[in-house]
Amino acid sequence: MVLVERAAPPDRLDAERLIAAYHASEGLKPRPDRISWAVEQVLRNRVGGLLLVAREKRAVVGVALAVYQPSAELGRVLVLNDFFVDPTMRRKGVGRALAMRLFEEAKAMHVDQIDLEVLPTNAAAAAFWKALGYRSTGRTVYCRELP
Ligand SMILES: CC(C)(COP(=O)(O)OP(=O)(O)OC[C@H]1O[C@@H](n2cnc3c(N)ncnc32)[C@H](O)[C@@H]1OP(=O)(O)O)[C@@H](O)C(=O)NCCC(=O)NCCS
Repeated sequence: MVLVERAAPPDRLDAERLIAAYHASEGLKPRPDRISWAVEQVLRNRVGGLLLVAREKRAVVGVALAVYQPSAELGRVLVLNDFFVDPTMRRKGVGRALAMRLFEEAKAMHVDQIDLEVLPTNAAAAAFWKALGYRSTGRTVYCRELP
């Protein structure tokens, strides 16, 4: 039976490990310093947001990291940047349990909208979010990195 909770400081390394695995699964080279920094920002309440962990027995098997963003257009937006379930634990409802808790926490924060991005190659994530009632906005994300 999976249990989803807000992460506490002792969960930090497990959360970082799963986020690094998520980045690797997306074809990125994980940057441990950056992952630690982002986790710290939310865990220590330096920015508004949410760090959730899913536990099976005592093991951390899933993570969700989202940050709060005030938008003049959309209102209170919770941007889900990292979401990952341990590959050995998939299709057992762990992702659904994490997403349901995210939704409940967002409601309690009076959030208007949860935003997330799915890579065009990630059919499993697209199917997952669609199954949970999320819809593509058709927006295209542009970015420019600073040197
Ligand atoms: C996407 C992900 C989080 C799903 O987690 P999960 O724990 O396996 O999902 P659940 O078991 O809760 O699935 C809930 C529903 O989503 C859908 N779903 C989940 N994985 C699916 C897949 N691979 N193919 C099709 N549908 C899928 C199904 O409708 C499923 O319900 P069902 O099992 O009763 O059919 C997981 O595959 C993952 O971590 N992927 C890599 C990271 C990632 O892509 N994160 C999201 C980035 S936006």
